[in-house]
Amino acid sequence: MGREGSGEPQGRAPVSRSWERSGSGPVVLVLNGPNLGALGRRDPGHYGTLDLDAIMSRLSKLAGELGLAVEGLQSDHEGDVVEALLAARERGVAAAVLNPGAFAHVSYAVRDAVEVAGIPVVEVHLSNVHARERWRHRLVIAPVSAGVIAGFGPLSYDLGLRAVAELLRRTP
Ligand code: DQA
Repeated sequence: MGREGSGEPQGRAPVSRSWERSGSGPVVLVLNGPNLGALGRRDPGHYGTLDLDAIMSRLSKLAGELGLAVEGLQSDHEGDVVEALLAARERGVAAAVLNPGAFAHVSYAVRDAVEVAGIPVVEVHLSNVHARERWRHRLVIAPVSAGVIAGFGPLSYDLGLRAVAELLRRTP
């Protein structure tokens, strides 16, 4: 639907997006930081051509096989990522797969939120950050993450979900 005449800018993109919970079993939050909403049109050489919708539908299929439920959130705002982590446990989220985007390299706020969250958080990156610019080698959230998976494109998310499934299986 067009918005002609409404006085609002047209075609404005949402600043954050969410994907409803699907499946049954322990709930895994798939949390994405800044610029990941642009997947599909963003530097396909590093990030491939799948957008987050495609990644989330792969994940909900895989979650079904693993006996998990998944829900998703993407935000360009640090506070949203922090709040999603802080609220997770109380909302019944058992674990998270987190692609912090560039927050991975600089955000002590997200790092502290992962620590406070009290749920296992597996950090994932589509690209192999260690094979890229030097500033991407520094991962400030990694020390408080359950583990880091990087460099496998969309498969990084699948592996992250598998890692979470294994961690939840081990913890009663
Ligand atoms: C990324 C890697 C980060 O360095 C970058 O800022 C991103 C995406 C990845 O998935 O490869 O936004 O997290």
